[in-house]
Amino acid sequence: MAEAFAPAKVNLSLHVVGQRADGYHLLDSLVVFADIGDRVRVEPRPSGSGLSLTVTGPLAAGVPTGPENLVIKAAKLAGVRDAAITLDKHLPAEAGIGGGSSDAAATLRAIQTALDVPIPKGLEQLGADVPVCAVAQAARMEGTGERVTALPRFTPLSAVLANPRVAVATPPVFKALSAKDNAPMPAELPDFAAPFDLLEWLQNTRNDLQDAACGLHSAIGATLDALSALEGARLVRMSGSGATCFALFANRTAAEEAARVLQQREPNWWVEACTLS
Ligand code: C5P
Repeated sequence: MAEAFAPAKVNLSLHVVGQRADGYHLLDSLVVFADIGDRVRVEPRPSGSGLSLTVTGPLAAGVPTGPENLVIKAAKLAGVRDAAITLDKHLPAEAGIGGGSSDAAATLRAIQTALDVPIPKGLEQLGADVPVCAVAQAARMEGTGERVTALPRFTPLSAVLANPRVAVATPPVFKALSAKDNAPMPAELPDFAAPFDLLEWLQNTRNDLQDAACGLHSAIGATLDALSALEGARLVRMSGSGATCFALFANRTAAEEAARVLQQREPNWWVEACTLS
């Protein structure tokens, strides 16, 4: 039996810099991971038992347990036929923070430990965010998601994540883009060991999906406004294709206080303070 943590993924920046002939978009994104997330447990089963998935936890409702779940797809990609998998769900689905992709990557880590099966190649076929979720530390993600460069000197950031509990399908957001050939991030990234430089540097980056997503889901604009109104919020932006947005704070105490205030104002939203690295 082995367990693996599936951290929330946050796109601090997400530049859309082109589109391939097959319709997939070329991205340039600074990706970090939170200290909050789901948990995956893999238990070996005798040959012929098949794969089973049980979903537990506060956000289990509505999560599929069949072959369409990325956890099962990941196990199959690794060549695993017999295992009982439990997914403890704390992250909202279709939320721009890589819930499914991070679950898939964590499944592969747990399979590696429990069954001594190496992480398979071709993770991008599970989803564009799965390769970066397999790295699970601050990284630059390029191409359609398959090119990942880890950034080992990244200084942790304190943040609040907020989701208005609106599920966002990604393809319509990409379709709604007005421009698909935006400027990438600078070729050379700065020294990420310097946190104040990072905040200033991030002001010159973007999430190119944000305006398109806001046009499709008005709750995202409301989330950005609510985060911006919090005392001490420094940079406020959407992650992925939404609807989760984040605000960065000077330290964890400020982030926790802001999360408490926001949760009180918006009792139906999913709100969490976290550390990103
Ligand atoms: O790979 P994933 O399943 O996460 O992608 C969901 C959808 O997002 C794709 O079907 C595609 O429409 C869009 N997408 C894209 N370019 C990417 C990643 C995703 O157009 N690099």
